[in-house]
Amino acid sequence: MLIAPIFIISFFLIDNPIFMNLLQLNDVNIFIGNEEVFPELSDLISKKKYSRIFILVDENTLQFCLPVLINNCPLLKDAEILETESGEQSKNIEICVQLWNVLSEMTADRNALIVNLGGGVICDLGGFVASLYKRGIDFINVPTTLLAQVDAAIGNKTGIDLNNLKNQIGLFASPQGVFVYPHFLRTLGKKQILSGFSEALKHALISDKDYWKKLKKIKLANSDLEEIVIESIKIKKDIVEADPLEKGKRKILNFGHTIGHAIETLFMEEGKELLLHGEAIAAGIICEAFISYKKEGLDHSELDDICDFIFKKYKPVLINEKSWKRLIEIMQNDKKNKNNQYNFTLLSSIGNAVINRPCSEAMIKEALKFYILRSSILKR
Ligand SMILES: NC(=O)c1ccc[n+]([C@@H]2O[C@H](COP(=O)([O-])OP(=O)(O)OC[C@H]3O[C@@H](n4cnc5c(N)ncnc54)[C@H](O)[C@@H]3O)[C@@H](O)[C@H]2O)c1
Ligand SMILES: [Zn+2]
Repeated sequence: MLIAPIFIISFFLIDNPIFMNLLQLNDVNIFIGNEEVFPELSDLISKKKYSRIFILVDENTLQFCLPVLINNCPLLKDAEILETESGEQSKNIEICVQLWNVLSEMTADRNALIVNLGGGVICDLGGFVASLYKRGIDFINVPTTLLAQVDAAIGNKTGIDLNNLKNQIGLFASPQGVFVYPHFLRTLGKKQILSGFSEALKHALISDKDYWKKLKKIKLANSDLEEIVIESIKIKKDIVEADPLEKGKRKILNFGHTIGHAIETLFMEEGKELLLHGEAIAAGIICEAFISYKKEGLDHSELDDICDFIFKKYKPVLINEKSWKRLIEIMQNDKKNKNNQYNFTLLSSIGNAVINRPCSEAMIKEALKFYILRSSILKR
């Protein structure tokens, strides 16, 4: 495969903190920066001469992000606003049908554009809706959460959930561009920042021990977030570029997600407590680090390092033994399974991941037990 060249333009000025990074993931430009990203966005939109422009938001990005976007890109002031309720429950086929109906009623043609202004839910949902409407219209991602900036908006995956099973329906589809403005993160609460932070931890654990060391020292202040966004996007970009359709290497991005997704689904089914994607992934990382220790020779001191840091940052997720059966059932539906075997991405050491590792049900249960034990030690 032809690997596209990487362009990185960075200029830091002391008085006027302009910083701008342009990364290229195959044919998708990813702009990361301050207000300078918006002229790039306007430029792309004006060149394409779209017949109609729609901006997909939820109630929070409508309030906090849309005014900033329109203020900086006046050509979007007449765009039609599509609003959906915030949260994972909007990532389903009924919402897609509603959005397709609105597009159709508003006579959106094949030359229309959808701008996804929001977190991972809006980017996944909007990309999916755009890619199927009239066999595909253009979309642009403007991610507004840490999770979407470091992960969900990058890499061309779109999709929705099916009966609470995560991302069961979806397709690979490239946005026309991704515009990352870390200032949007200033209105995000700490819980949401931590949720996104777990994907950055995953990036470090699977590919870069120095990044892991750096993340352990970070305070999560605004300036730290800019650094995390750039570093994580570079890691994800390199992985996706090497394997865009997840035939091999890209699977390393699934670390923490086999058990993490099952926990996320379990909480959605039970509907008791709202558990964010990244919070579930943080728990998944601990369980899968334990399996890595058992099966792949991850050093015990590195397992401790991972557990200590994650439990320092994240409140333990309450999973009791009664839910294990259901968790295992959910994992049976995991997209990564092959020939009815649970298929994991694991770590051989911090910074090095291995893919396609079969794992027994007994081992998964042992990992859940380990998680509960470690979290109970913490509570004492
Ligand atoms: N496609 C991918 O490759 C990929 C990768 C990782 C995760 N995901 C998906 O991403 C989703 C999670 O994304 P998320 O955590 O961004 O969730 P989200 O989109 O639900 O956003 C979290 C919350 O933050 C609010 N919000 C968004 N931007 C804000 C801002 N700037 N200020 C204040 N509030 C704001 C939203 O309204 C929402 O309430 C999951 O569905 C997950 O499966 C996809
Ligand atoms: Zn994730």
